Amino acid sequence: MKHDRQTLPIAAIREENPSLRTYIFNAYLDALPGQFVMLTIFGQGEKPFSILDANNSSFSFTIKDIGPFTKRLAQMQLGDLISIRGPYGKPFSRETGRILLVGGGYATPPLRYQARVLREMGVDYLVNINGARSETDLLYIEDFKDYCDRSLVATDDGSLGHKGTSVDVMSAVLSEESFDRIYISGPERMAKAAVDVAKNSGIPFEVNLERYMKCGVGICGSCVMDPSGLILCMEGPVVDDTTLEKLTEFGVSHRDKTGRITAL
Ligand SMILES: Cc1cc2nc3c(=O)[nH]c(=O)nc-3n(C[C@H](O)[C@H](O)[C@H](O)COP(=O)(O)OP(=O)(O)OC[C@H]3O[C@@H](n4cnc5c(N)ncnc54)[C@H](O)[C@@H]3O)c2cc1C
Ligand code: FES
Repeated sequence: MKHDRQTLPIAAIREENPSLRTYIFNAYLDALPGQFVMLTIFGQGEKPFSILDANNSSFSFTIKDIGPFTKRLAQMQLGDLISIRGPYGKPFSRETGRILLVGGGYATPPLRYQARVLREMGVDYLVNINGARSETDLLYIEDFKDYCDRSLVATDDGSLGHKGTSVDVMSAVLSEESFDRIYISGPERMAKAAVDVAKNSGIPFEVNLERYMKCGVGICGSCVMDPSGLILCMEGPVVDDTTLEKLTEFGVSHRDKTGRITAL
């Protein structure tokens, strides 16, 4: 897999909701679901983002404007130049039996990409559970319906689907159906709850993690996870159940941008 730098004009922008946009670039990125890139805005720095999709001629990211970098990105126009290096990191495995995807909030882009790839690979049975605060925050509902045999949603305020979390729905689904593998991506508290349910089910699982990332290539140490010293940008961001078992900081603490360990 090549790790090239490409400097490209923004080819298209899709508004997903008032604070979330998808940026599309017309070029080839040799990527797999779960991988990420380091994205540079000249004069503003560089930050990590998951790949929403990539094919022979285009790739995309869905990005929430939350702070200085992403707010600057939100002001950019079609044709403005962005520099991208990557892809980096370990992707999800690509199992094609009975598969359950469990996502929450704005961490669903890798699961949407995974759903598309598994469907194209001829997955036997694919179920997706997508959770968010409210209907406006739910992403890619139509895409998940297209790719999955069953697509379920949960919202905290009950504006669409089950009133509650995607993990509530996950527990209910697992009481009725069996799966060969579970793929999880969500904010860490939600991911921790989903991991607990997955462990109880005895089904192998993989989870997409996030830590502060500065270099993306194993040099700076900002993404290292305790106590095993796993370098998440290279040995993750997707980790399997056996690896996760050794990461006692999961769901408990993380390093901030100075490297200090703080509670989640
Ligand atoms: C592997 C990975 C994939 C990601 N994928 C996406 C995605 O698909 N869409 C998306 O909107 N966001 C994604 N993020 C988070 C994204 O990197 C941050 O939202 C962004 O860096 C915020 O920068 P800012 O200057 O706008 O805000 P800031 O005010 O600097 O930060 C806001 C919050 O973003 C997080 N953050 C900031 N800088 C970093 C960093 N260098 N590494 C990790 N987290 C950071 C911190 O939690 C911080 O509290 C991903 C992060 C990682 C590590
Ligand atoms: S981000 Fe620098 S080592 Fe992982």
